[in-house]
Amino acid sequence: MWGKWFTSNNKRNTNFNDSQLESSRMPGHVAIIMDGNGRWAQKRGLPRTFGHRAGVEALRNIVKTATTIGIKVLTVYAFSTENWKRPAAEVELLMRLFSEYLDSEIDELDSKGVQIRFIGGIDELSESLQAKIVLATDRTANNNKLVLNIAVNYGGRAEVIRAVRKITQQVIDEKLTIAEITESSISEHLYTNDLPDPDLVIRTSGDLRLSNFLLWQSAYAELWFTDSNWPDFKAEHLIKAIADFQKRDRRFGGLKNPK
Ligand code: IPE
Ligand code: IPE
Ligand code: MG
Repeated sequence: MWGKWFTSNNKRNTNFNDSQLESSRMPGHVAIIMDGNGRWAQKRGLPRTFGHRAGVEALRNIVKTATTIGIKVLTVYAFSTENWKRPAAEVELLMRLFSEYLDSEIDELDSKGVQIRFIGGIDELSESLQAKIVLATDRTANNNKLVLNIAVNYGGRAEVIRAVRKITQQVIDEKLTIAEITESSISEHLYTNDLPDPDLVIRTSGDLRLSNFLLWQSAYAELWFTDSNWPDFKAEHLIKAIADFQKRDRRFGGLKNPK
C-alpha cells in the first residue's frame, strides 16, 4: 500500500538549495512541533495573534518545500489537547486561523497533490470547522504527492487511551484475546495507522521536549531542535534538519556492524 507514495517525480525549486540532500536517504515522514509563535510576536512588541498569523505563513512555505524536496508525509502539531488551557480569545483565534487556512489553501494544496488529513479529537471542534475538515479531507483523499497531517486537539496520551479503549472493546466482544495484543494492535488503532512512523521530529523555538506529540510513533524518531521561532522557520532550516538527519546513524537498538 505504501509503495504508491514513493513514485512521484519531484520538480526542483530554485528558491533554495537542496543539493546537499541525498535523495536516497530522505526521511519518509517528517513531523514538526511548530512552537514559538508567541515569542516571535513578543520579540517584536506585537500581540501573540500576529505570531500565529505569521506561523500560518511559515506553514504555507514549508508545505510547499516539503512537496518540492520529496517528503511523503508531513505531520504538523497545530493545537494540543493541553492548548485549551489558553485564554479563550487565543483559542478562538487559532480555530479561526485553521478554518481560514483551509479556505485559502485548499485549491493550491489540491492542485499540488497534497492529501490533507487531520489527527486528534476532531469531534470536539466546532461544527463549522469540522465541516471544512471533512470537505478538505474528502476532496484531497486521492492525492498522493504528500500527506499533510494536521494535528489539532491532538495529544499522544489521549491517542493511546483511545486505542486501548478500542482494543478493550474487541476483547470484550471476543474478537481478540489478551495474549493477541501486540505493538501492532496499538499502532493499528492510532490516527496514523496507515502511515510510517516519523523518521524525523523537528521542534522550533529552543524548548527541548515533545509536549505530548506522537509519543508512541516517535519511539525511534531522530529529534532535531532549533532556536528559531516557528514564523522564522524557512526552507533552509528544513533542509539543514534533513541534512543532519542523513548523517545520523539509526541503530534501532541493534549494532551498526554486527560481527
Ligand atoms: C505555537 O506557538 C503555536 C501553538 C501552540 C498553538 P506558541 O503559541 O506556543 O508560542 P510560544 O511558545 O508561546 O512562544
Ligand atoms: C506544543 O507547543 C504544541 C504545539 C506546537 C501545537 P506548546 O507551546 O503548547 O508546548 P509547551 O506548553 O511549551 O510544552
Ligand atoms: Mg509554545
